[in-house]
Amino acid sequence: MPPEEFRVVEVSEENIGDLCLLCVPPERLDDPVFMMGVELKKTWVKDVLNRWGAVARIAYLGETPVGFIQYVPVTDEKIVHITCIFVPRKEHWRKGIGRRLLTSLVEDMRRPKEWFGGEPPLALVTKPFPGEKPEQYPARNFFKDMGFKQVESNPSLLYFPLKHGFTYIPPEQRESNYIPQEDDKGKVVILYNPSFCPFSYFFLKKSVQEIEKAMPGISVRWINGWEEPVEIERRGISDGIVVNAKLIRSFLLAGREVFLKEVLDALREA
Ligand SMILES: CC(C)(COP(=O)(O)OP(=O)(O)OC[C@H]1O[C@@H](n2cnc3c(N)ncnc32)[C@H](O)[C@@H]1OP(=O)(O)O)[C@@H](O)C(=O)NCCC(=O)NCCS
Repeated sequence: MPPEEFRVVEVSEENIGDLCLLCVPPERLDDPVFMMGVELKKTWVKDVLNRWGAVARIAYLGETPVGFIQYVPVTDEKIVHITCIFVPRKEHWRKGIGRRLLTSLVEDMRRPKEWFGGEPPLALVTKPFPGEKPEQYPARNFFKDMGFKQVESNPSLLYFPLKHGFTYIPPEQRESNYIPQEDDKGKVVILYNPSFCPFSYFFLKKSVQEIEKAMPGISVRWINGWEEPVEIERRGISDGIVVNAKLIRSFLLAGREVFLKEVLDALREA
């Protein structure tokens, strides 16, 4: 496909819906749980747009959105963090869409930005999504093909220097520290917030379903961060799964058995 057949457009108030629906698998369009994830993503996108004036670029083939790249500036590090790149449908792969999305972002980010006191960012940084479907090309391979380098101290991070000779060294990992609460004991507490990815809420819901299957009748409390900010604040973390006042570290997708064992162990602890 010659590149002129698709165009890359910045996301604004008018096409937020395109951005948020593009990653919904067709079979999930009627799934209220997944669509709740889409609503959470819309809230996140509006918030980033209001704050920074930019959030993502979409590739259109005619009027059809076919791929996107989304990002946020991190002002204290003077970098731009790419939160996701995605060309969902097989018929659009390997036609240069991902490359065009990335190069258009790189070109833009070589220009001075108000976010960084009128200077361009030092680098683009990303933590590529590791859960691509079997036939999809992994985002990590794509970024490496496009010249991204691996961060030495944290191999899950990749970066693309925009300033000659720049090496990205991430700030020390700040462990999210859950502050145990008396009223979280003996139950499951789910903390959630607007998110850049609609899959986040979906996987939280799946995790709760697995917990309920293993422990029928267990009490579950959902805490929505922007409706109950005080509840989130006193727990010290913005999202996650807490069981019997303990934060669950394992992720359902990485292994159901390991996840459920951690949940059961947390419940057994006095
Ligand atoms: C990675 C991705 C964005 C690439 O999109 P794309 O439009 O197909 O990529 P392009 O056609 O621009 O390819 C750019 C380069 O990437 C590499 N590449 C892309 N697909 C490839 C494949 N299937 N095999 C080998 N290399 C591949 C090549 O180096 C290619 O350059 P070339 O065609 O000149 O050799 C797309 O495959 C994707 O969305 N994958 C899933 C990513 C993901 O999990 N995102 C999070 C979702 S929640």
